Amino acid sequence: MFATTQRSDFMLRLAAPVAWRNPAKVAAKLRGFAATELGSARDMLLAAEQTSNPKLRRLFLRHGLDEHRHSKMFDAAAKRASVGVRVRAYEAIHAEPQNLLERWGEMRFVAFVHISESKAVAQFSVLSSHFAGTDLGALFDEILRDEQFHCRYSEHLLDQWRAEGRGREVDQAMAAVKRSLLWMAWRRSGRRIGDLLVTALMLVLYTTVVPLFALIARVAERGDGSGWRPAGPSDNSACLEDARRPL
Ligand SMILES: [Fe+2]
Ligand SMILES: [Fe+2]
Repeated sequence: MFATTQRSDFMLRLAAPVAWRNPAKVAAKLRGFAATELGSARDMLLAAEQTSNPKLRRLFLRHGLDEHRHSKMFDAAAKRASVGVRVRAYEAIHAEPQNLLERWGEMRFVAFVHISESKAVAQFSVLSSHFAGTDLGALFDEILRDEQFHCRYSEHLLDQWRAEGRGREVDQAMAAVKRSLLWMAWRRSGRRIGDLLVTALMLVLYTTVVPLFALIARVAERGDGSGWRPAGPSDNSACLEDARRPL
């Protein structure tokens, strides 16, 4: 587990200079983060409404408000980095709530929160070092502290269930969440590939089919005069006069 975390940190460090190479890329990444944080906020606030456990409700509410603030902070930073950048379609979907507590129950939901927040901590630690000494570095630092709290409280809840003799259930919940996250990642990459394919297809259509039609129209114009031609000036007045004339 430790080796896996170290390896993913190394990959994140390696990818950061490429993924965040210019203001447009920075703005697009930040807009993507804003969408993800908004989706988390909505799910956490929904979970706070749905749970009957007062302790969980308090934690989920605080967590939801944190995520909502993060979304606003990322959105504002994206606008500062580059004006007019829009969230990409495959990332916009992350802003939608998934209603996970109702679908999965409390233990699996908390396992999901813990695994997701651990990933967020790893990612934001790397980005906070990458942008150290800049406004963006300070932003990642501030958000990182909240993510560490989310990671700790969810771990504490899982440990409590283990201490109550529900260790096997916790292990099963963690395994189920890891499988679900793999499936979600697979679907996400499918959407991304779909977006790229549609863009490529539209490019081919615009560069081949449209000029082909223009060519056919030009040939038809030079031919025997049949085919489509621009309409000449119409004189509707005669028709109108005819229509007004008594029979
Ligand atoms: Fe967050
Ligand atoms: Fe978080």
